[in-house]
Amino acid sequence: MELFNTPESLRSACRQWRRQGLSVALVPTMGFLHAGHMSLIDEARKRADKLVISVFVNPTQFGPNEDLDRYPRDLPRDLRLAEEHGADAVFAPEPGAMYAADHATWVEVPELAKGLCGASRPIHFRGVCTVVLKLLNLVQPDVAVFGQKDWQQLAILRRMARDLDLDAQLIGMPIFREEDGLAMSSRNVYLTEDERARVPAIRQGLLKARDAAAAGQRDAGALALMFRAHIADTLPDARIDYASFVHPDSMAPVARLDAPTLLAVAVFIGKVRLIDNILIEV
Ligand code: PAF
Repeated sequence: MELFNTPESLRSACRQWRRQGLSVALVPTMGFLHAGHMSLIDEARKRADKLVISVFVNPTQFGPNEDLDRYPRDLPRDLRLAEEHGADAVFAPEPGAMYAADHATWVEVPELAKGLCGASRPIHFRGVCTVVLKLLNLVQPDVAVFGQKDWQQLAILRRMARDLDLDAQLIGMPIFREEDGLAMSSRNVYLTEDERARVPAIRQGLLKARDAAAAGQRDAGALALMFRAHIADTLPDARIDYASFVHPDSMAPVARLDAPTLLAVAVFIGKVRLIDNILIEV
């Protein structure tokens, strides 16, 4: 496995592979890899001859008061895991190698980014789209694999790929969960022991809403209230950032569940913001 730190070296290796007729898969990550990442990496491994994993804590997707500085990092461990899972290359650039001092070009999908996470993180998806497009341009992969925990991110990236005629197929993998239902996330390390023990309540709230929809409740407002009541009962110190029913592709708000609908939630527990979602197929 090779480690690349500069865009030029990565681009040149990927170009050589493509000239040899080899297919390439990309898994973009911010590192501190966990089992959820591994499920993306294992899927990508099956889908192409060569596998590139990027490990880059992308500064442009963090707001001024967010956790860029304390975001967990462990490159030596990430490299070991990447190699164990069959990666051919890891791309781990410094921010200065990715962004020129006078970087001035941004990619945005404002219509899909204005709600949910985009409402409280206004520059987040602009940073995500820009860095993912840069990575896709460098690697020119046949497939790129993302997790569905960040459902809105994937919907935005798919729209970007369609609108800008990108060649790569974007694949979404199901949320990987701890045994008690907590969605895996690098940020789970921020939770105290007590918070960690209680946060599976978020998943239980999603399942409660899904079960009520299956039993015939189609009113999104009533279902959202049910989720909120569950969180108030089980995590009284939590603050719900949003609990919203949206169309799974357009991210447009949905009032009645007459078709598959995404319930997406973000919950603050202490200083930690956890996101999760469930696709409700009525
Ligand atoms: O989902 C993530 O880890 C990041 O948003 C991504 C896609 C790697 C872009 O920095």
